[in-house]
Amino acid sequence: MKLHHEENYWWDLFSWKELEHLINLRPLMSTDRVVLLHSKKGYKWNLDTWSTQDSIPASVIKEVLENGFLYIKEASRFTRKINELANEIEKEYGYQTDAHIYATLNPDLPHPLGAHIDDNDNVIVQCEGATNWKVWDKMDVIPDSRKDWVNIDLDKPPTLDITLLPGDAVWIPKYHPHLATSEDDRLSVSFPSRGSKDDLFQDREWVKLSSM
Ligand SMILES: [Fe+2]
Repeated sequence: MKLHHEENYWWDLFSWKELEHLINLRPLMSTDRVVLLHSKKGYKWNLDTWSTQDSIPASVIKEVLENGFLYIKEASRFTRKINELANEIEKEYGYQTDAHIYATLNPDLPHPLGAHIDDNDNVIVQCEGATNWKVWDKMDVIPDSRKDWVNIDLDKPPTLDITLLPGDAVWIPKYHPHLATSEDDRLSVSFPSRGSKDDLFQDREWVKLSSM
């Protein structure tokens, strides 16, 4: 299902300006949260005496964005709006939901996983740029065959072939092969959902210190 930005409020979910702000908050850019893809170089950086963890400097993030591709995990509380939408998706579907921020300023790169399947449902919101999505019918999945879940060769046409513009969203249920192709600089936020329905959920309260 494609949701168009004129019909929902996600048109202003997240922007390059907000990403710029976040990447400059270096402790948020920890190496266990930020995944650098297609970066040809083995980047190196220094940690000073005050660093409490290995986090990536903003200058390296910028270089990866210009030449490669990155995504940031555990970002569901990075902004109030992202937290709000994660909360709505959790209430609607009943599963724990994260937010992954995907970004590149180099749209010529192919998706590193090609056509692939995931073991979680996913709502993807295009925030800036344009991304073409192809989605195929559900595949029968053999347990423990994860290596076969990526770069899948599909000889039939996709069930869905759409280009998302800022504010558009697509919902992809698990085990449906999908292929994302950037048509422009890309900034999108994916909301993967998984877990069992009685699991504990993230605390979604957005605190305001109104007395200050
Ligand atoms: Fe995926």
